[in-house]
Amino acid sequence: LVPGEAALQSEELGYVTAVGIDGLRSEFPVTSEYCYLDASAYGPTPTSYMQRVAAGLARLVEQPIDETTSRDESVRGLAARLIHGDPERISLVPSTGYGISLVTMGITWSAGDEVVVYEREYPPAVAPWLMLRDKGVRLEVIQDRGRDGFSIDDVAELLSPRTRAICISYVNWENGFRAPIEQLRSVCEGRDVWIVCDAIQAMGVLPLDAEVLGVDVLAAQGFKYLLAGYGCGIAALSQRATDDLRPAHVGYRALQDPDNASLVTESRFAFREDVRRFEMSTLSLPAVFGMEASLDLLLRAGTAAIGTHVLRLAGRLANGLSELGYEVARFDPSYEHQSHVVVAGHRDSALDTIQAQLLQRRVVCSFRRGRLRFGLHLYNNDQDIDYTLAQLAELSPR
Ligand SMILES: Cc1ncc(COP(=O)(O)O)c(C=O)c1O
Repeated sequence: LVPGEAALQSEELGYVTAVGIDGLRSEFPVTSEYCYLDASAYGPTPTSYMQRVAAGLARLVEQPIDETTSRDESVRGLAARLIHGDPERISLVPSTGYGISLVTMGITWSAGDEVVVYEREYPPAVAPWLMLRDKGVRLEVIQDRGRDGFSIDDVAELLSPRTRAICISYVNWENGFRAPIEQLRSVCEGRDVWIVCDAIQAMGVLPLDAEVLGVDVLAAQGFKYLLAGYGCGIAALSQRATDDLRPAHVGYRALQDPDNASLVTESRFAFREDVRRFEMSTLSLPAVFGMEASLDLLLRAGTAAIGTHVLRLAGRLANGLSELGYEVARFDPSYEHQSHVVVAGHRDSALDTIQAQLLQRRVVCSFRRGRLRFGLHLYNNDQDIDYTLAQLAELSPR
């Protein structure tokens, strides 16, 4: 059994098992030309994304805009289904960093407040917290110590009466570590801590349950595992985040009564009370059209089925890499923090060269901090794994 599979097997299996993975691959023409193992960098948008964007734009050039043009409400509903959340607590955001900033800019900070992050976090996701340094807010950093991960005890050790927030990715961008996010809330029991989770390396490929995760903000832009390109993302908020966070920006969408002249004449305005007050303005229509198509596809496939599928392939890839002499991050088949992101180093080879050679052989993966990173999604199959391992066997030193 591949790690994680037992948990996933109990969930309902969806479309992947019904039509077979080859049926879905036709939605991703890139997979007929490339062995595409790089959704951790960019997830290819399906053909239906392109068609939906084209149809939406065609309508915009042919007909007047009306209330049915915008697909925001539909996207909110689909996103809620994908992560078992509440559409009334889903905000459509332009980026992951914007989602994180809902908390950095949305609460009142005091000098001496502390924020816990992980040493190997994606640096731009830590930058919003560093913006708080001039308010006297300090970072407490979970040390990796060569483990490519950490334990919940590492988090517990860093908590203090001054801890105000924790910000950790669900799946790490650089080593594929799947963090124990669902345990954070209980470890913070009795403390007033805001929990923020960057889910861009996981949303769309692993089953996520916003309620079970128990975080205040779960955020992901569309362009990786949501297969939804740039410009539109999803932030799922807890009830207290929805109720209590103060918007950092204001514009048409955030206002209760945007056309009210008293805003100017009497210097009065009120924010909307619902989650839309975090949406400063209208998002790019094509980005939202495309997101709708991609969420449709992911829901038809079912994230339980996708998760089972990618974890099995990840297990095969990790085994094969190890047999070829690669050091696979956290290589331990019983390890519960396994994800669909497989990362491997090699003592004797320059992996940037290997990555370039793989690309020449039509295998797409990333080179990050000295190692190869493979990010798997629903369109990958066993042939992709076999082909990649065969190329690596030819390219790698013995
Ligand atoms: C872990 C992680 N977070 C966030 C991002 C992107 O952030 P944003 O949506 O703010 O551009 C990336 C992209 O590479 C990432 O790997």
